[in-house]
Formats: sequence, structure tokens, C-alpha cells
Amino acid sequence: MTCFSCMFRRKRTSCQHHDQLNEDIPGIEGVNIYTYKELKIATDDFSAANKVGEGGFGSVYRGMLKDGTVVAIKVLSSESKQGVGEFLTEIKVISGIIHENLVKLYGCCAEEPHRILVYNYLENNSISQTLLGSNRGNIQFNWRARVKICIGVARGLAFLHEEVHPHVLHRDIKASNILLDKDLTPKISDFGLAKLLPSNVTHVSTRVAGTLGYLAPEYATRGQVTKKSDVYSYGVLLLEIVTGRCNTNTRLPFEDRFLLERTWAIYEHGDLKHIIDSSLTDDLDAEEACRFLKVGLLCTQDAMKLRPSMSTVIMMLTGEKDVDLEKITKPGIISNFMDLKVGSKKKADQTNRSLIISSILENSPLSSENTTSASMTFTAISE
Ligand SMILES: Nc1ncnc2c1ncn2[C@@H]1O[C@H](COP(=O)(O)OP(=O)(O)O)[C@@H](O)[C@H]1O
Ligand SMILES: [Mg+2]
Repeated sequence: MTCFSCMFRRKRTSCQHHDQLNEDIPGIEGVNIYTYKELKIATDDFSAANKVGEGGFGSVYRGMLKDGTVVAIKVLSSESKQGVGEFLTEIKVISGIIHENLVKLYGCCAEEPHRILVYNYLENNSISQTLLGSNRGNIQFNWRARVKICIGVARGLAFLHEEVHPHVLHRDIKASNILLDKDLTPKISDFGLAKLLPSNVTHVSTRVAGTLGYLAPEYATRGQVTKKSDVYSYGVLLLEIVTGRCNTNTRLPFEDRFLLERTWAIYEHGDLKHIIDSSLTDDLDAEEACRFLKVGLLCTQDAMKLRPSMSTVIMMLTGEKDVDLEKITKPGIISNFMDLKVGSKKKADQTNRSLIISSILENSPLSSENTTSASMTFTAISE
């Protein structure tokens, strides 16, 4: 493995093995390869004090490299059977993608058995922490800040879907994957990450509650991953940002627990304004906020084909395209029968949910290569 470090740092050696590998992995030069030792030093031996998060793919640490650069170091938790070469080739693809609304991947460490990714560090954590979660209140997200976040995320996703070649599906758009820099510019993280993990990983678990609420029904039940499943997740996120609420909140009264369901019910009553975050005051443009909520509903419609593309979403958000000309149909909701940990409303109801879950777990292609994040979510819910 040190062979790789030497090779990618382009230190010429006389080792034949190096030359052979160099030929096998074309065009990998643009990727920074870090040694395990230097990342260990950067994080003070991956100390708890430097840990900034724990997610479905592993732990994330804040670290400082020798040259003073502050980075986020993500240690992938899977027992990867993926070869180093394959891992690096994928990294190469992802690290070449640069956009204002995407987190920058600096490089990685692939010394066996480690699989570690190194990103630029974002000072203001994720919107699940700062806008929806435990650190809520530390930053004031006024309406203009939220508009910037919603449009920025849409731009990042449209770029992945429509401008990068080959197109990239994110597959795990959710609040904890939207990070904020010091100016509250949103950066989508973890794009392409599902691809980096080997297809046999089905045991990755996540502690993030409510991830299920972002999954498009066709993704959850048939493992069908498309741009439109990302659009669905984006729609849920949009509703969260405008309402300031998580997609699922089991502490609320039953009819209020699932944000998407709730928003749809309120929309049908024609008074969308009532669900806008009440902490928004001074600079709130209620009409614009209602437009954003409608876009969220358009993105989460049950029929994939009816959901707009991400570039259309941008035009709707910016007002270049009139949302009111669109007919909005009922959202595809899976959370209402999926969440096994939703209190006990009715016994029979619960039993049905369990049955549906287990049949999905047995029959769907959730463990197949395209659905890492879905399987991760289900593991968490069913354990
Ligand atoms: N580049 C980064 N800069 C700062 N914090 C980060 C960065 N990447 C991840 N984090 C933090 O670590 C947490 C865990 O990240 P991750 O492993 O992607 O799990 P998840 O997205 O499922 O929460 C994130 O929610 C975020 O708070
Ligand atoms: Mg993440």
C-alpha cells in the first residue's frame, strides 16, 4: 500500500510493481493520496475531541494537515472488499467535479484496510444541525438566507444531474448532507459516495433518524434510483427549510408527524402560509415561501414523471417559470406506513407496517449496488 502513496505522489522509484500499477490505473494523478499516518496526526489519533459527526458511512473528524489546511476526514466504516484501484478510480471521477454548491473532495487514503476521504472543512456544519437540529438557534436563518440555501442546493444538484459527464445521481440528499460555509453558502456533500462503497455492503447502519422520509417510494419499494428520486428527496428538503421542521417528528400529534403529508393536507385546504416557519418574521416574503412549498410538493409527487427536473426547479424557485400553471398531484408518501418506531397508535396498524417492511426487505433489490443508502436506512429502522 505504501506503493500507492509513493506512486501517486509521483516519487519515482525503481519498484517494478509501481510501474505496473501505474499503467493499470490511468489518469489518477489529480487525486491527493494521504498516508494513514498523516491523517492520524492531523486528527490527533482520531480523537473524540476532533469528531464532528457520525453518519451512515462512518465517522467524520476535523483535522489539520501539516501545511495548516483544516479538513474534514471521513473514515468509511464498511469492511471494504473493493480493490484499491477501483476505489481510486471512483475518487478520481468525484474529485474532478467542482462547483460552488458541492463540497470539494481533496483526496483519500486507501492503505489497507482503511478507506478514508478528505474534504474541505465547512465551518457551519450541516443544516440538520443548525437549522433543524440541536444547534438550532445558534445561527439566524432569515428568509434571504433560506432562499440562498434552497437555490444553491438546487444548483448543485442540477449540475450533478445535467452538466457532469457521466451524470451523477446523489442518492442520499438530506439535511445532514447539506453543509454550510462561513457565509451560509450550501454545499452538497457525499455525492458519489454510494458508488464508492462495494455492492455487498448491506450492514451499514445510520443513527440519523428520519432518513426514510427522504426516500422516493419507487426507490424504497423497487430500488429504482433515478434523477427523479433525487428530485423527490430535494423536495422534502425544501419543505424542511421553509417550515423549519424535520420531515418526521414523532413527538408531534399523529396528524402532524410527517411533514410531507401535513403540507399536502394544508395545501388542499388552500392555506399553505400556515406551515411556514413561524420564527421567520422581518424579511419573510410569504408569497415566495408558498411558491417554494409548491415546488416542494411538485418534486415529491407520486408519479416520477410528473416531478420536474432540477433545472426546471431552479426556474420555478427564481420565478422564471410560473408554478401556478402546474397541477400538483398527491405526494408519494412512504413514511406513513414505514416508520416502525412511530409510537403505537393502533396495534393492527403497526402489524401492517411491519409486514410491509419485512416484505420489502425480503423482496426488493435493496442490497443491490445502486441502493446503498436505502439499505442503510432500512437497517436502521428495522433493527
Ligand atoms: N466537510 C465537512 N465539514 C464539516 N462537517 C462535516 C463535513 N462532512 C461531514 N460533516 C459533519 O459530519 C456529519 C456526519 O457526516 P456523514 O458521515 O456524511 O453522515 P450523515 O450525512 O449521514 O450525517 C455531518 O452531518 C456533518 O455534521
Ligand atoms: Mg453525509
